[in-house]
Amino acid sequence: MIKTTQEQTGLQSRLNVPFMELKNEHRLLREQIRSAWEAALDSAAFVGGGAVEQFENSFAQFCEVKHAVGVANGTDALLLALKALGIGVDDEVITVANSFVATAEAIVHAGATPVFVDADPKTYTIDINKIEDAITPRTKAIIPVRNGSISVYHLYVVRVEKGKRNGLQEYLRENGVQTGIHYPAPIHRTPAFSRFHRQSCPVAEDHAHKILSLPMYPEIERLQVEYVVKLVKDYMQSTA
Ligand SMILES: Cc1ncc(COP(=O)(O)O)c(C=O)c1O
Repeated sequence: MIKTTQEQTGLQSRLNVPFMELKNEHRLLREQIRSAWEAALDSAAFVGGGAVEQFENSFAQFCEVKHAVGVANGTDALLLALKALGIGVDDEVITVANSFVATAEAIVHAGATPVFVDADPKTYTIDINKIEDAITPRTKAIIPVRNGSISVYHLYVVRVEKGKRNGLQEYLRENGVQTGIHYPAPIHRTPAFSRFHRQSCPVAEDHAHKILSLPMYPEIERLQVEYVVKLVKDYMQSTA
């Protein structure tokens, strides 16, 4: 029997699309990772050592800079950068309200005060026109973050018309598609950081109710992408 285009592409049948699936990628890299891990075990160099030095040199070259320093994680990188600049108690550091909480954590950990600035409605990065209002004599640095932004490839964030985001998320879930929200509240609206709330951030607050992160990872299959696109279209059309 001849299959229709829809049957061939599988768009009629339910697919499971995890938000993040790294197993296929790990399968491809398994031998490389295993031999690097075994070399580290053999040399018992777990902190610093030849492999870290090699990585630092390659990464510096890749970034076209003179030096790179390997650290344990992104939060440490932010904290150490602030400390290297001598930032601490009585200092203020400006950052964007809709970043990941690690940005604010590092500022507080350094002893300084985070000052949150609203997001730009188009780019979703820090609104450069609102930075000046946040500058005081205590301002020592600005951390403009790209990670929570719509234009960055680590998350595929879409903005859904007001009131439809949760419905779309539920519809996708019912159809086997996992999604995420990055992030459900701007940092100054979280209990841990509300005491730092100074400037109003209406754009970041509005976006928090509209954003939805769709599945995206290197090994996602074309069929899965098409399936998600079709579901999003169907939902938006049926609720228009
Ligand atoms: C914007 C941003 N900054 C900092 C971090 C912290 O990185 P790590 O989890 O490696 O400490 C993250 C982690 O997701 C992040 O998204």
